[in-house]
Amino acid sequence: MNNKTELRALFAAGLLGFAGFAFAHGDVTPQKVETKGLSPLGEEWVDENPYRAPSEDHDRAVEIGSSAYNQNCARCHGLEAISGGIAPDLRELEASYDGDEWYKERVINGAVRDGAVYMPRMADYLSQEALWAIRTYIESEAAKR
Ligand code: HEC
Repeated sequence: MNNKTELRALFAAGLLGFAGFAFAHGDVTPQKVETKGLSPLGEEWVDENPYRAPSEDHDRAVEIGSSAYNQNCARCHGLEAISGGIAPDLRELEASYDGDEWYKERVINGAVRDGAVYMPRMADYLSQEALWAIRTYIESEAAKR
């Protein structure tokens, strides 16, 4: 191995190690979500998915939520909302007031136990419009089952 390939191998190993570390600690950098076109909801969290009813908002929410989900949730909850077993399958959450309540609780507070971050507080990084759009996308995937 010449110096260059050796360096490259070391670099790749370092990156892999880093990814493993970041994952284990739930230390991810959420990606900004563009929510233009969705009805704005203000600062205060609403209690129920405001984009659930069939409407233009609903259709836009599914579209925006799809890419937002894949960028911010899929690495733990699975591509296309199909859990690979690392984290709960979000399609199981009922599309109802109760389901919304638990969804909201988790995205706002994350899952932190004994100082370990199993799921980051996603609402610190993403707007409630983005998070309800993600919820709407997950519901549309659940309906396909
Ligand atoms: C770093 C991994 C990770 C990321 C990223 C992540 N989650 Fe989670 N999530 C988890 C884990 C692990 C749990 C289970 C928490 C527990 O053990 O109590 C969970 C639980 C949940 C729950 C509760 C599900 C249930 O059935 O109890 C919801 C809702 C949720 N996540 C939504 C999201 C959404 C929406 C995103 C993206 C915006 C997201 N999560 C990003 C790891 C993650």
